[in-house]
Amino acid sequence: MGILTNTTDFFGLDIGTSAIRVVQMKGGRTKALARYGSLDIDPKIAKSDSNADLQKLGQAIKQVMSQAGISSKNVAVGIPSQRVFMTVVDIDRLSEKELDSTIRLQADSLIPTPLEESKIDWALLGDSPKDQKKVEILLGSVPNTFVERQLDLLESMGLNVIAFEPDSISISRSLLTPDTAAPHLLLDMGNEATDLVMTLNGAPRLIRSIPIGTSSIIKAAIQNLGIDEKQATQFVFKFGMSKDKLEGQIYNAIVGTVDTLMSEIEKSIKFFQTRYQGANIERIIVTGGTSVLPELPLTIANKFGINVEIGNSWRNVAFPTSQQNELLTVSNKYAVAAGLAERVE
Ligand SMILES: Nc1ncnc2c1ncn2[C@@H]1O[C@H](COP(=O)(O)OP(=O)(O)OP(=O)(O)O)[C@@H](O)[C@H]1O
Ligand SMILES: [Mg+2]
Repeated sequence: MGILTNTTDFFGLDIGTSAIRVVQMKGGRTKALARYGSLDIDPKIAKSDSNADLQKLGQAIKQVMSQAGISSKNVAVGIPSQRVFMTVVDIDRLSEKELDSTIRLQADSLIPTPLEESKIDWALLGDSPKDQKKVEILLGSVPNTFVERQLDLLESMGLNVIAFEPDSISISRSLLTPDTAAPHLLLDMGNEATDLVMTLNGAPRLIRSIPIGTSSIIKAAIQNLGIDEKQATQFVFKFGMSKDKLEGQIYNAIVGTVDTLMSEIEKSIKFFQTRYQGANIERIIVTGGTSVLPELPLTIANKFGINVEIGNSWRNVAFPTSQQNELLTVSNKYAVAAGLAERVE
């Protein structure tokens, strides 16, 4: 194989609560899609801490790898936003080495879990918008227990973990072009949660996980309409937020839950605009299973008066035209896995 067509020697792995997804790229100046695949899993498995369920998760990962024809043993793994704490802090302008020791000294007061039980990492974002003498740092922390369990599982399967990356970083890479400077709001509306990322100059500046997704919206429909889960799922994905279908019954059943989500998003937008004065959000990009609810993107656009775009997880990736329809159909499921696979290693 020539140097420009080599399959990159790692793949991206997104362990979502409703499905597992893998993506592998081919190298070259623009990465090209080599392989991808997904497998639905029982949400109980992804959330469980029992060893039996961990084994099932391992089986599912093996299965999706083999179905997709993943050839590499090296894996970049996404960390769900619910498991990682991310914050932006202002720190005195120092040399890189001094910064690291200062951040580690201060970390205990900045993260919610005890420092000795957490893995922390940070990245320099640039000048602080608040204080000329300070710089802005993106600080992330994950409980050791979470990382170690995943490592054990993946290593026991013969895989080599080359990186753990917060989902928020992965979706910023896949959904934005590398030159995006203007503020964007990314919403990954999944099964259990909606992950919110506000970006500026392409880097995340505000990251939150709001515990509202498909499962809570379906639950609202079940409760308010007295129907079973299967029917509720069908109705919700068929009629979504349209008021004129089924006399607005579905809309009325789910609007409360959607409104709660909207007000959480609104709080984040306000917080962002307080810190970055004059930063107007150019566009909202939505992805994830819930983003395909009829008229939900429109509801978001109307609520905030900002253009909403349906995210394209493959926007920075080359692929044959013959695959275009198939890829765009599943695009909303691959933002995390594609972003991981686009990492430059
Ligand atoms: N057309 C559809 N009909 C029914 N359900 C759908 C449809 N499209 C998406 N879904 C639902 O969307 C959810 C999957 O969304 P997504 O793939 O973003 O979840 P996830 O990544 O597993 O979740 P999370 O990121 O919260 O862990 C599932 O609950 C799935 O049932
Ligand atoms: Mg997800």
